Amino acid sequence: MDKLIIEGGVPLKGEVAVSGSKNAALPILFACLLPQGEVKLTNVPRLRDIVTTLKLLELLGCRTNFEGDTVTVERMSVHTEAPYDLVKTMRASVLCLGPLLALAGEAKVALPGGCAIGARPVDLHIAALERMGAVFELETGYISARCNRLKGAHITFDFPTVGGAENLMMAAVLAEGETILENAAREPEVADLANFLNACGAKISGHGTSVIRIQGTPSLTATSYRVMPDRIEAGTYLIASAITDGEVCCRDCPVPELDALIFKMRTMGLWIEEADECVVVRRHGELVGVDVVTQPYPGFPTDMQAQLMALMSVSKGAGSIEEKIFENRFMHVPELNRLGANIKLKGRTAVVRGVDHLVGAPVMASDLRASASLVLAALVARGATEIQRIYHLDRGYEKMESKLGALGARIKRVSE
Ligand code: EPZ
Repeated sequence: MDKLIIEGGVPLKGEVAVSGSKNAALPILFACLLPQGEVKLTNVPRLRDIVTTLKLLELLGCRTNFEGDTVTVERMSVHTEAPYDLVKTMRASVLCLGPLLALAGEAKVALPGGCAIGARPVDLHIAALERMGAVFELETGYISARCNRLKGAHITFDFPTVGGAENLMMAAVLAEGETILENAAREPEVADLANFLNACGAKISGHGTSVIRIQGTPSLTATSYRVMPDRIEAGTYLIASAITDGEVCCRDCPVPELDALIFKMRTMGLWIEEADECVVVRRHGELVGVDVVTQPYPGFPTDMQAQLMALMSVSKGAGSIEEKIFENRFMHVPELNRLGANIKLKGRTAVVRGVDHLVGAPVMASDLRASASLVLAALVARGATEIQRIYHLDRGYEKMESKLGALGARIKRVSE
């Protein structure tokens, strides 16, 4: 397993290009099962989860290719089983349910199981698909589903689940009649999927709001599409600039989609300016702690709480982060404390008291965003930090060590 060794203390300077969004590319890749013909996607990040998804699409009967940032997918036949050995490595595999039911009227998908940040059930996906006529059986760790042609339905989600909205949009685009999704997730990645499906001839409206309407159509046609930039990767680099007291310009940074994070960073005392498609972060003096509650979009994103916590741990005064989306998303706290942070957990709230400095030490990555938080802390810690199990990082950050190295960070990847 690889590890990262980072010598902290260098203010990062220069320009970093944001890659395509992992959380937009994954559902769009599953949606490539739906149209006839070869789909061409650009701005696709080269990440483990993307490669895993392409392997799964091939098992489901597609021909795929991935060169540079361009992916092509063409459905040649339809197989309807997603095996456990692939699904267990990537929860997003459950997103093949909607397309397979829409296309073939059947699907057999291994239950994703939990992951480091929580149980992450799919009960809301199943209940909504049942409203459209799918019949489910849960057998030995697999979800089996069957249906005749799915029928449009009026569905209200108990919770604005991102994956649930994505699965249901993909199920509804070929269904009979209209489907209405109420209390739907408003995340930009859900809207990017809708834009892709509409580019293939679907009739979706309301995406980006909490009421999404989908008119079923007989078929979809392949197209070319550019995946949106990754707002979470971008936010991570904005914080890298802030935590090292540097001056990083983030190119292709999706500013409107980062409103909640940018507001909190400005409240901490950071100067964040937009100049010709670049966002520049500067620090003028002390930063102060803030209080954050993670919410569904457009609230503060759960995928940024670990990264902001690293910044808060070296800011003046105290702050708090309440994690309301996942039940176990504080695995980074004990590791940050090993670096000298002063963070106390009270249920689903972390109380962060800023310290004068962090000190490098060996730490362990546990999940994707916790790993990013440890990298950010290491960039400012005195001395060397060794981060083990960075395969977690490779799931969501394209070429992170070369991007940080180009900004001046003293960082190297070592194979254990
Ligand atoms: C997506 O996960 C993202 N993943 C996550 O990003 C992100 O944290 C999450 O949305 C919230 O924004 C991808 O897009 C691939 P949810 P998803 O369904 O779809 C509960 C990252 O770091 N829930 O909105 O799985 C669930 O347990 C990853 O890039 C149910 O109870 O998120 C969780 O507590 C991590 N039943 C909450 O809702 C269901 O049927 C949010 O889940 C579905 C969800």
